[in-house]
Amino acid sequence: MTDRLKGKVAVVTGAAPRGEGVGNGMATAILFAREGAKVVLVNRSAERAEKLAAQIKDEGGEASVFAADVADLDACEAMAAFTMKTYGRLDILHNNVGIGAPGTPETVTLDDWNKVIAANLTTTMLCTKACLPRMKAGGGGSVIMVSSIAGAVGLMGSAGAVAYSTAKAGLHGFTRSVAADYATQNIRANCIVVGSVHTPMVAHMGTEARERRRKMVPMQTEGTAWDIAYGAVYLASDESRWVTGITLPIEGGLVNLRAWPR
Ligand SMILES: NC(=O)c1ccc[n+]([C@@H]2O[C@H](COP(=O)([O-])OP(=O)(O)OC[C@H]3O[C@@H](n4cnc5c(N)ncnc54)[C@H](O)[C@@H]3O)[C@@H](O)[C@H]2O)c1
Repeated sequence: MTDRLKGKVAVVTGAAPRGEGVGNGMATAILFAREGAKVVLVNRSAERAEKLAAQIKDEGGEASVFAADVADLDACEAMAAFTMKTYGRLDILHNNVGIGAPGTPETVTLDDWNKVIAANLTTTMLCTKACLPRMKAGGGGSVIMVSSIAGAVGLMGSAGAVAYSTAKAGLHGFTRSVAADYATQNIRANCIVVGSVHTPMVAHMGTEARERRRKMVPMQTEGTAWDIAYGAVYLASDESRWVTGITLPIEGGLVNLRAWPR
């Protein structure tokens, strides 16, 4: 622990992974706590979040659980109020909740479309809405969005991801809009573009598909949730105090590099 987030209070949504292994939210919550932040773990499943809180406390960190579905404004308001009551301030919001569903415009169901837009975009907007007044009261803050390469580039050869790509790309606009609106109030908003990381979210993927995904990456390696979490620590800390409105790709070069034809 090097105290890069000492004195700060962080909210991490979707903090506990959906299955065995380390998810992006889980790794981020652990590193935030290791760097000295007090962390509120927000999750629909209180049981899995409690397990993560115990793990953080075992390491000497500080964490509390707030069980809620953050697709609901009242729940987000209660989450921010709980954070203030428990720790007295709110400095960092890590908007990690997100789900995907396959489909092109021809094949996606309206139900899947609505669910994916709500889980990725609406949750982020509602959590941010509830946390901003608390950040302002504390003199500033850092809001972090969690996007995907699917929000940055079109991915050929998949089963289609029109809802997910649209929702994640929407987060890029959301990030810039919040960054612009709060720039003079010392509240920064940035977005991580997550690449092909192996987490419980993609555990359903077979070995072959996983291997094809790895080969798509210019660095030819798969990422982990820790790669994402290290980026989140930087964006949450004062080390990035002059960084706002950016999308930070953490993806082994997939967004910006191209193979030269041979
Ligand atoms: N794993 C990848 O390859 C990959 C790639 C690109 C982007 N991402 C992004 O990373 C983020 C997820 O990372 P993770 O590994 O922590 O995922 P995860 O699915 O393991 O954990 C997310 C948790 O959020 C919870 N959750 C979902 N909806 C919720 C809601 N409305 N309210 C409260 N909790 C809710 C889920 O129950 C789950 O426990 C998503 O935004 C995802 O789009 C992942």
